[in-house]
Amino acid sequence: MITPGEVVLITGGGSGIGRATAQAFASAGATVVVAGRNPDALAGTVDLVRQAGGTADAITADVTSEEDTARMVATTVERHGGLHIAVNNAGVAAAAPVADMDLDTWTRVLDTNLTGTWLSMKHEIGHMRRHGGGVIVNIASNLGAHRRLPGFSAYIAAKAGVSALTRTAAREHIADGIRINAVSPGSSDTPMSLRPGETEEDRAERLRVAVPIGRVATVDEIANAVVWIAGDQAGYLVGHDLVVDGGVTA
Ligand SMILES: NC(=O)c1ccc[n+]([C@@H]2O[C@H](COP(=O)([O-])OP(=O)(O)OC[C@H]3O[C@@H](n4cnc5c(N)ncnc54)[C@H](OP(=O)(O)O)[C@@H]3O)[C@@H](O)[C@H]2O)c1
Repeated sequence: MITPGEVVLITGGGSGIGRATAQAFASAGATVVVAGRNPDALAGTVDLVRQAGGTADAITADVTSEEDTARMVATTVERHGGLHIAVNNAGVAAAAPVADMDLDTWTRVLDTNLTGTWLSMKHEIGHMRRHGGGVIVNIASNLGAHRRLPGFSAYIAAKAGVSALTRTAAREHIADGIRINAVSPGSSDTPMSLRPGETEEDRAERLRVAVPIGRVATVDEIANAVVWIAGDQAGYLVGHDLVVDGGVTA
């Protein structure tokens, strides 16, 4: 259960899984703050939450910048009086095999998924440990620590890093009262799970065979796992990496 009024910061909250997570936390009574680079996308999430009777705010921030991640946390606390739960969900994918990848692609994928998660956690933990603790959920992937797929090496290396970073941070900071876990989705219903040139129909056909459950995850199915692991009912889960992938890595 989420305590109504708790303040939840969600990076990458302007679309996809991040937007669905914002909506799920807001319907549980939380105040949600969404962060990302595109203010229009963030405003879209804020509108949806408010239309449903929830409380939401947006902060434009790039998680690859330490200045931005520090400001993102400070502004959340300043405007809403605290930070109780953080969901580090901002991410980008790129398809390129090792030998054909350029350094810019590698750097962008590692900076956003891995360094962005670390920078966000650094400032979230910095606040939470001075204010009685909190909860952090990092969005990793079933690609990474749990599964490898040719053609996605930078993304897989970055997400394996997120899984490992989550477990290490969890052990480092549980004594500060900060409970840190990861959720690792499988293919979810956003453009990120489309292969280059693939339509949604092509994806449905591919996943009907490739995924034991026979379909893509809805963004709500991932968001519900995030809300659950952040809540009191999962209070003894520390450094867990919850794979939500329809059986692919079972
Ligand atoms: N969809 C899947 O099948 C799947 C599977 C496993 C894991 N995941 C993970 O789930 C998370 C959400 O993905 P999604 O599928 O919902 O894709 P998405 O809609 O593209 O969401 C990614 C979000 O991250 C934000 N973002 C990207 N770079 C950023 C940066 N430098 N600073 C701040 N925000 C940034 C984007 O907003 P801006 O561009 O406006 O900044 C966007 O809102 C990602 O971490 C992804 O790796 C997705």
